[in-house]
Amino acid sequence: MTQRTIRQRVPAFEVTEGAGVTVHRSIGTPALKNLDPFLMLDHFGSDNPDEYIAGFPEHPHRGFITFTYMLDGHMEHRDSMGNRGDLMAGGVQWMKAASGVIHSEMPKQTDGLMRGFQLWINLPARDKLSDPAYQEFSAAAIPEVMREGARVRVLAGEFDGAHGVIDDPATDVRYLDVALEAGARFSLPLDGTHNAFVYVFEGGARLAGEALAQHTLAVLGQGDEVEIEAGAEGARFILVAGRPIGEPVVQYGPFVMNTREEIEQAFADYRDGKLVRTRAAMTGH
Ligand code: CO
Repeated sequence: MTQRTIRQRVPAFEVTEGAGVTVHRSIGTPALKNLDPFLMLDHFGSDNPDEYIAGFPEHPHRGFITFTYMLDGHMEHRDSMGNRGDLMAGGVQWMKAASGVIHSEMPKQTDGLMRGFQLWINLPARDKLSDPAYQEFSAAAIPEVMREGARVRVLAGEFDGAHGVIDDPATDVRYLDVALEAGARFSLPLDGTHNAFVYVFEGGARLAGEALAQHTLAVLGQGDEVEIEAGAEGARFILVAGRPIGEPVVQYGPFVMNTREEIEQAFADYRDGKLVRTRAAMTGH
């Protein structure tokens, strides 16, 4: 087994998104434009309604997947596929925008803590204009695996024989939420061909012997195993891995395609009311 080390550290920084929501972005910044197949990682977390109440009113996406994981709070999702979703604490939503989706994500609370992640996952060229799809699962549906000193929620992919609820065939994404007690060690094998990152959102940890602070994303180097040790206050982090696509990425705002011409087409389609081609049914519960 070759241990993966930290190839790059990316401290998250504040940006304003939607109608005025404060988020901490790590992937999708000048320091880390993308990490194939991942295009963006936003961490939102605030108990100040001024930082989330404006929400994300109707906006388009084309060419990729949005994967939302709620840690705390309640958001209502509506989209051009006809889905209406309640994203609540511990729940996940996977939305393949593909050929085109228009959606809104609005808070269903006026105070209290709102916390979670939104990850953008790219699609290969052959899937970019495929039909949209939607998966949503509440907290109760997500498998939890207990190990000594560790609790692992399996959102996507496999861990210790447990299969995550989200099925992500294009890039075989694995997405774990890991909580470690103080000083606990956690290791798992990772496919050596997949890109992977760890983002610590509570406490602090050491990865392959190197310190990893809260609100810092670590891009992992080559290898087929990762080992993480929690600091004195314990640690909670997400560990995400996926198969790289290896194609050109041309991104403009909510559209991510392979060429400049395809981006221009997306803007033209949106302007002409042709972005949404397909409605799809909802799966999950
Ligand atoms: Co969106």
